[in-house]
Amino acid sequence: MIVMTIIFITVPILIFGYFTKLIAEESLLNEKEKKLYGVTNILDQYLQQDFNAILKEKGALHANRQTKIKILNEALGHYTDSLATAYPGIGVGYYVKDLQAIVTYGPSSEHSDKVGKAIEPAHPGNLVLKTGKDQIVVGKQVRGQIMNAMHPVIRNGEVIGYAWANELTMDIENQLAKMDRIIYICLGLGMLLIIVLLLKFWNKVLVDIELVKQGLQKMKYNLNERIVGIHGEIGEIADEVNKMAEGILNARSLSENVMDSMIDSVITVDINGNITFMNKAVINLLEVNLDEVIDKPYLKSMFNDGVFKSFLMKTLETGANYVGVEMEYPANGKHLYISSSSSRLFDSAGNFIGAVLTFKDITEKKRLEQQVYRADKLSALGVMMAGVAHEIRNPLTAIKSLIQYLQEGNTEDERKEFYPLIIKEVNRANKIIEELLYFARPSDAHILPVDVNQLIKESIDFTKSLAKNKVKYHLKFEENLPNIEIDPEQFKQVFLNILFNSIQAIENSGEITIESLLDTEQGMVVLHFTDTGCGIKEENLDKIFDPFYTSKIEGTGLGLAVVQRIITSHKGDVWLQNIQSGGVRVTIQIPIHFSKREVMM
Ligand SMILES: Nc1ncnc2c1ncn2[C@@H]1O[C@H](COP(=O)(O)OP(=O)(O)O)[C@@H](O)[C@H]1O
Ligand SMILES: [Mg+2]
Repeated sequence: MIVMTIIFITVPILIFGYFTKLIAEESLLNEKEKKLYGVTNILDQYLQQDFNAILKEKGALHANRQTKIKILNEALGHYTDSLATAYPGIGVGYYVKDLQAIVTYGPSSEHSDKVGKAIEPAHPGNLVLKTGKDQIVVGKQVRGQIMNAMHPVIRNGEVIGYAWANELTMDIENQLAKMDRIIYICLGLGMLLIIVLLLKFWNKVLVDIELVKQGLQKMKYNLNERIVGIHGEIGEIADEVNKMAEGILNARSLSENVMDSMIDSVITVDINGNITFMNKAVINLLEVNLDEVIDKPYLKSMFNDGVFKSFLMKTLETGANYVGVEMEYPANGKHLYISSSSSRLFDSAGNFIGAVLTFKDITEKKRLEQQVYRADKLSALGVMMAGVAHEIRNPLTAIKSLIQYLQEGNTEDERKEFYPLIIKEVNRANKIIEELLYFARPSDAHILPVDVNQLIKESIDFTKSLAKNKVKYHLKFEENLPNIEIDPEQFKQVFLNILFNSIQAIENSGEITIESLLDTEQGMVVLHFTDTGCGIKEENLDKIFDPFYTSKIEGTGLGLAVVQRIITSHKGDVWLQNIQSGGVRVTIQIPIHFSKREVMM
């Protein structure tokens, strides 16, 4: 850049200098010419009449050539000498055509020897004599290498001689060289000055630009920074940038104030998942240090152990929006309940620049809900106890009356008849207590990777004696089902309870269709148990999971309660629905990985 600038400036200067030199040389030569001609004109005028008039006055009109030359020299010599003195360096004189002789040549101190000499035939003076026109020549002549201006002396229309003035060209060349030197020196000095000034100017520009660059870099992180210490045009630019930063700061402080005044927490991340912003609500709620988390990966800084799936990250990756999702929030060792939403972030040009998460702490609301839930549970427990009392009292009453009957004397036959009845009632009481215990406290889970299709087949085998020949099974298993992490014993219990219900719902004959599916996106296995049984009355649908709710004479009402208990302890889900063709469909969802809790934040 600077080299280019120097070239752009120096080339025109050099061209200008060259032409100046040419013009100066020419004008110097012109000036010389003028001077020399001027001198010849003076000589012409000084002569007044003609050479013969001088000779006549001296009475030498008919004298010999030598005398004539001498007389003319005496008459005119002092004048040519005084002209030569007035213009140092020049030689002046008269040439007389009639005499074919130089009659004076001043300064005579130098040129007296040339007086009386005739010019050679090739001398340009001959041309002047012949044509009567001024001649200026540069070349070797009587005096040597000279510039010679010759002016014809014309009297009565006749050329009677000429006057000349010359100057040694060496003198002229010396003067030209001197002038050239001055021009070169001026040019050189001028260029040097320009280059120095340019370098200085550029240096200043570069320093200023560097200052602006550094200032802008600092501003990137802190809009309170200002670019200072720059003057001139770049200083004005810096001032404008400062004003702009001020403007942005004002605009931003408004939005930041809004953000910081919000009760809801706001976190934003860039497209790489690094935290870009957190409002005061987050900082207070999670007690985080802003400096430690800004520009750091969100997952790592907020969820140290990293086993959690984040729905902010999901929004970032897929663009899916979440609205008002309630969840446990385990960030930074805190255990909160929050309600949160997330969406992608776009800049003013519509470019995707990250994602934003907003959430509010609903821990208190959840606590109240849990209180209500507990109260509900207690009342449910009351209902359950009543159920237990009722269920157990029935077989106990039966046993008591059977034993009383046997006490009052009885036959062997009667004993044979009643003992099995007593044992049946005891078994029934025992079964109720067993299921109740299982419901209250299921055995400790032993989680293993299990082939669910296989486990369902084993469970079906168990039901064969009960199902007899009235039920036909259809299996539609997903063949690529991965092993899922569950307790196989507990799930066998689940499948048996569901199958028993279906078998019991089928009166004479029917079908049970079992389907297994893989939901890779959610990391779940889905199972459908569909029967062609009697279905469930709509009004009873919300009671079927209640302990002791049963529609059967021999039922305990604990089967589905146990099913639900086991499935929720595996972070899964279960629900029943009537299907149009008349039966019931039980749907079960189980996460493939038991350890990966789905916390979507
Ligand atoms: N497949 C089904 N078809 C019709 N009704 C069902 C089915 N599964 C469950 N139910 C209803 O749900 C009730 C509760 O079932 P459950 O908890 O297993 O207790 P139980 O089988 O001892 O009655 C049943 O009494 C029945 O009314
Ligand atoms: Mg049952």
